Amino acid sequence: MVRMLDQTRLPHEVVWVDCPDHQTVAKGIKELWVRGAPAIGIAAAMGFALGARAIQAATYDDFVRQIKPIHDTLAATRPTAVNLFWALNRMDTLVQLHKDRPVEEIKERLIKEARAIHDQDIQRNVAMGGHGAKLIREGDTILTHCNTGALATGGHGTALGVIFTAWESGKRIKVLVDETRPVLQGARLTMWELQQNKIPATLITDNMAGAFMKKGMIRLCLVGADRIAANGDTANKIGTYSVAVLAKAHKIPFYVAAPTSTIDFSIASGDAIPIEERNPEEVTNVFGKVRIAPTHVDVANPAFDVTPAKYITGIITEQGIFKPGELKRTLGRKRT
Ligand code: MRU
Repeated sequence: MVRMLDQTRLPHEVVWVDCPDHQTVAKGIKELWVRGAPAIGIAAAMGFALGARAIQAATYDDFVRQIKPIHDTLAATRPTAVNLFWALNRMDTLVQLHKDRPVEEIKERLIKEARAIHDQDIQRNVAMGGHGAKLIREGDTILTHCNTGALATGGHGTALGVIFTAWESGKRIKVLVDETRPVLQGARLTMWELQQNKIPATLITDNMAGAFMKKGMIRLCLVGADRIAANGDTANKIGTYSVAVLAKAHKIPFYVAAPTSTIDFSIASGDAIPIEERNPEEVTNVFGKVRIAPTHVDVANPAFDVTPAKYITGIITEQGIFKPGELKRTLGRKRT
């Protein structure tokens, strides 16, 4: 059984959902019960292990035949966050490496691998927090977009994890939180996590960021990532690109925090990153309930945008902080 905290119900209700099979895990990823690139990867690995456990197969070939549709169901949930495909690839590789072992042993190893992916993500976030916190000064106000905290990861967080680490080290900082239309991850989830950690935070609508920068009220921008191309171009929640361009115009450092599992060295630039188009109702309605637009309007709802590397000051990973152009040379070979 996999248990998920249903993030669509936060911050008003804390509801855990039991997922008895991989189909329910896939539904949970698609419907954003679990979201955030690293958390999606962990959920996919757990779904894979859950699906594998239910397989009745006498031979390795039969097992592989039955695991394929499980992989495909999980892979078809959300296209942008590469962590999903990275995690499924790790699970596939483990199956291939143990083709001489009994099926029951492979199933056990898959469960251990899913747990390892979860544990490693937490360790990576903590390491990332240590590197990134050095960029934060006493008294800083930091702008963030979307949710990149414990909810979006195995625990601790990426960009928000950096903020947590700086706060825990005693730096008195403030966070400006973009509400993050249309799904409001900033307003609902980031504000909730910051409140739980008692970190001073102010919620703003996405279109206020420029005005706060102009007034000199933001010292640093910190965001997460869903997929980073080999040249450092970064896909993240829609609206990130606007923040990056504004930051450049106001000479404010703009950093991306992401584990190396979010870097996709197989694609040269952000042009090749698939961008998920989501249900128009996320834009026309609030929480799918209150309609705010006339009926029958044309709607676009790309869930992510790509920030070109030239707008990114640095990328904070568990292995250190790199300029976008340094990723391939420094990390291209040793990624796990
Ligand atoms: O659509 P979501 O909520 O899954 O999008 C999440 C983001 O864009 C996050 O900023 C990104 O995954 C980084 S999470 C550590």
